[in-house]
Amino acid sequence: MKTEYEWIKVEVKDGVAVIAFNNPPVNQLSEHMVLEFVEAMQDAWADEEIKAIVLTGTGKNFIAGADITQLLQVKSKEEFLPFLQKNHEFHNAMELSPKPLIAAINGNCLGGGLEVAMACHYRVAAQGVNIGLPEVKLGLLPGAGGTQRLPRLIGLPNAMEMITTGKFIKSEKAFSYGLVDELVPAEELLDTALAAAEKFTSGQLGTANRMASQRFDRLPSAAEKKSLIEFSRAMMADKAKGYIAPWKIMDCFEKGLTTDYQHDVEVEADLFGDCLVSDVAKNLISIFLNERAAGRLPRTKGLEPAQIKKVAMLGGGVMGSGIIHLLLANGFEAVLWDINDEALDKGVEAAKKTFAYKLKKKKLAKDAFEDLFANKLSTTTDLADMGDVDLVIEAVVENMEIKQDIWQKLESICRDDVVFGTNTSALPITDMASVLKDPGRMIGLHFFNPAERMPLLEIICAQQTSDQTLATSVSFGRAIKKVPVVVGDGPGFYVSRQLGGLMGGAVFLTADGVDGASVEQAMLEFGMPMGPATLADLTGIDINYHVNQTFAKRLGERYAVHPLTEAIYQLGDYGRKTGAGYLDYSQDPPVPNPRVVEAVAKYYADNNVEPRQASQEEIIDLMLACGINEAAYMIQEGICDRPADMDLAMVYGTGFPPYRGGILRYADKWGLDQVVSALEGLEAKYGPRFTPAQLLKDMAAEGKTFYSY
Ligand code: 3HC
Repeated sequence: MKTEYEWIKVEVKDGVAVIAFNNPPVNQLSEHMVLEFVEAMQDAWADEEIKAIVLTGTGKNFIAGADITQLLQVKSKEEFLPFLQKNHEFHNAMELSPKPLIAAINGNCLGGGLEVAMACHYRVAAQGVNIGLPEVKLGLLPGAGGTQRLPRLIGLPNAMEMITTGKFIKSEKAFSYGLVDELVPAEELLDTALAAAEKFTSGQLGTANRMASQRFDRLPSAAEKKSLIEFSRAMMADKAKGYIAPWKIMDCFEKGLTTDYQHDVEVEADLFGDCLVSDVAKNLISIFLNERAAGRLPRTKGLEPAQIKKVAMLGGGVMGSGIIHLLLANGFEAVLWDINDEALDKGVEAAKKTFAYKLKKKKLAKDAFEDLFANKLSTTTDLADMGDVDLVIEAVVENMEIKQDIWQKLESICRDDVVFGTNTSALPITDMASVLKDPGRMIGLHFFNPAERMPLLEIICAQQTSDQTLATSVSFGRAIKKVPVVVGDGPGFYVSRQLGGLMGGAVFLTADGVDGASVEQAMLEFGMPMGPATLADLTGIDINYHVNQTFAKRLGERYAVHPLTEAIYQLGDYGRKTGAGYLDYSQDPPVPNPRVVEAVAKYYADNNVEPRQASQEEIIDLMLACGINEAAYMIQEGICDRPADMDLAMVYGTGFPPYRGGILRYADKWGLDQVVSALEGLEAKYGPRFTPAQLLKDMAAEGKTFYSY
């Protein structure tokens, strides 16, 4: 048989064709590879010398699924269904073939990859590899038979868990489920697969009773199926709100899993098509791809990041302790500096507490945990001990003079190539760096609270930050498993200013007679994790007020503190930390704070405002228009220039609903001309806070969008 291919490798061993997928980066099922795969299979079936076929993969992957860059291009369901139909015919032909087909699962076996493996007669897996159907995370469902073959192989409860969560399982677990027939060390994989082929050819095993599509013994009874599906639908009611795929997966189970496999996969194909062309899937796939592209910038192309082994953490407060966690958990040595022993002890204790979850869940052994704190973390109150660190991260009190003083001292202690990263959330980094002999070494490394859990790292380039400093910082961000989004220096950088822009419209609605509770509810319905009042209570009404003042000072009139904001600030109820803010936390559940209610009533009386109802649509339009406008101002001012990164930062830094893709994707969908006209209406009613950015007006006039589609 033909052995020369580009995207697969074919070898014949004692009458067994070994076909290895070889399509970097993850052996995804790109069209070019699939065409070769089909050709090789047909060749093997036709060749009388070939008795059996083994499928495997090169490198770390068996097959990691369909090529999602190609799926992203699909515009119409009708166009795609015939392709899916062909795919089913091919998988059915694999199963029906009298030549035994063995999957030798060498690495990631995901999505369409597991669907290929399930169409084989036998599966051998290397120990410790990932197996799963993660489609749901991309807004999809397994569309090549996965929803129908997996329950037939491992029963509906386990299959439902795997398909609705999209979580990978290890091959050990897959073996215990019966999804994998043999589990072996990686180096024995191929020989074991060849031995399995021999079992078929010698008659010990037969292909006819090893067709997953024709196995019914593990399918649930009608009553079991009904109750499982009802239970799952109820369980996911909140979590899956706004998503499509989890519901369609349930439909696949409900309408499928019959004795007629062909019927079942037709149902699945139709529902897969619905997901594939949905905005939700396009948004989630784009987030997946953009996440991987984050931090890859033309200005750092080709630069070698500095090697980082030991990191200094200045300040053991809430952020510092979370960052220590990240350092220790990701193999770095850390040295914690603080002003006195008491502060150091507190910092270390707080850092230990951040590991409680991992310890409880046994994701980290007690000994390993103790070893980290005994051998990988040291403490000091003397900056002079920082002579051998490779990176400094500073999270001390938000005071420019104190920070500048520390940095100046460190400049004469640390090596010249050591990057100085500040975790300031409010101070201008360009100013902070101005006291250094080499301001190019300074950068903002803005973590989000809780640092050990929030996936985003906002990297802020000051005016003088060098490309080398940036390259090292991005690489460090990846090493601590964060999504590194690079932005420019300016008040609130990107995320805080963007979130402020999104939530900042609320005060205008309240001042216009709209009940705060309906604004909260509308934002929750939109998919934000919390509404503006709850968020303000969490961050602190005083903090927001000072940020607002800074914005007004640095960015101008548009950000002037609203008189109602001023009145509420003057009450001195600053949120959760004082026991009351917009809500009164002495009650459970919290109730509206009567002092705020009174202040709002006074504002209404003084300004002749009549309380009124606003529709959810009115509220969301105002809030989103305000947020989109802020994004446009930031692009205009050069704070940001990559919409994909901005959207990622909102999703990972603020919980903006991933299924909406981000604020700029939402803007494109809404239509920039519509956004501008909404803003013009709001400007006429509420003033300059809503004046549309020139960039937005220009884009709308030229029919442009933030993304190219
Ligand atoms: N298609 C195309 N490209 C893919 C891909 C896929 N399915 N999966 C990963 N890639 C690309 C990434 O975009 C990245 O590209 P880049 O280097 O140009 O940025 C590269 O492969 C490496 O990816 P990671 O950085 O994520 O590499 P890791 O080693 O950390 O992780 C992985 C590897 C576990 C395979 C991870 O990439 C992953 O989870 N991939 C997605 C798997 C998936 O969701 N499969 C289902 C696809 S949908 C499907 O199969 C539908 C079917 O049912 C019909």
